[in-house]
Amino acid sequence: MRFEGLVRSTVKDIKEYVPGRSIEEIAKKYDLEPAIIIKLGSNENPLGPSPLVVEAIKERAGKVHLYPQVDALDLRKAISGHTGFGVNNIVVSGNGMDGILDTMMRLFMCPGAESIIPIPTFSYYEIATLANGGKPVFVMRETDFGIDPEKIINNVSENTRMIFICSPNNPSGNSICEDDARKILGSKGTMIFIDEAYADFSENNLSALVKEYDNLIIGRTFSKAFGLAGMRMGYAIVPEWLCREYMKVMTPFSVDVLSSSAGIAALKDHEYLKRSIDTVKKGRVQLMKGLGSSCKVYPSEANFILIDVSPHEANEVLEELLKKGIIVRDCISFRGAGKSLIRITVGTEKQNKKVIGALISIL
Ligand SMILES: Cc1ncc(COP(=O)(O)O)c(C=O)c1O
Repeated sequence: MRFEGLVRSTVKDIKEYVPGRSIEEIAKKYDLEPAIIIKLGSNENPLGPSPLVVEAIKERAGKVHLYPQVDALDLRKAISGHTGFGVNNIVVSGNGMDGILDTMMRLFMCPGAESIIPIPTFSYYEIATLANGGKPVFVMRETDFGIDPEKIINNVSENTRMIFICSPNNPSGNSICEDDARKILGSKGTMIFIDEAYADFSENNLSALVKEYDNLIIGRTFSKAFGLAGMRMGYAIVPEWLCREYMKVMTPFSVDVLSSSAGIAALKDHEYLKRSIDTVKKGRVQLMKGLGSSCKVYPSEANFILIDVSPHEANEVLEELLKKGIIVRDCISFRGAGKSLIRITVGTEKQNKKVIGALISIL
């Protein structure tokens, strides 16, 4: 007990990260057969992994007694080929984009420093800021979840080190337009982290701006379109100066041998990537059309859609879905999201049909 006092005081303010529910948890709670449960709560890829990835992991399994490359050079070269940026513009993490966010916060945050977070959004920006001694400054998004660049700029102070912009935003699915991003990037001397975890499913991405702005970080992940959430790999496109600084503080050997091979294989499987993007684009339309007459559905550029179930409360609707073996995510734990929003990951055609039928009957 007396050792708790040694923990940094800012950590006391952190609310634990709330993940989506797991199949095992729901099967146990509602006495359901795990095989009948559909999991549309964590924005995972419904296609399973690419067969090339599975093959690459098997092939490399006999090498796990050796350390991987300290700087993940082969993986970074493969990402460089995929993105068109130089190897010295690519940094990686073996703990998903969460790991990238964490390392960036170790670089930029300190007691007294601030980050600006337009909400509702992905909660790890807040946790990573607090865990590194900084203070999150929250700015409400507009009613359609858009960002007003002036509001962001007005909140920049001499202590601001980072502005987080999730685009497409989790949980709302909308992205920031280039003009607004430029206004924020060019306004004051602060870093901007544009989180493009879901940009593979959108027609918009802002990575080209890294060539123009020395204060821009574009975060990406293998967890969504590449179907590798369980391998935990993320990367970022950054200016070269930042790549050098990142390498100093990242944990050495951050990407393990199996993940690195899996990532390289995933980048080669163009057919899988296309199929996963097509599945999401078709599924989004199916969900929008299927649910549009029962509740408000927000337009989405990501692999999930957001619905407003008011006058019902999201947790009540969620509970009814869980009883039927359908896992989705209520947004109550997202700061500033209110009590009536539910986020549904786009699944296969069959899964989408099931969730539409269940929701229509509940609503
Ligand atoms: C917006 C956003 N950024 C980052 C992440 C973290 O991704 P990763 O699995 O690469 O850690 C998520 C995960 O769902 C997310 O929604």
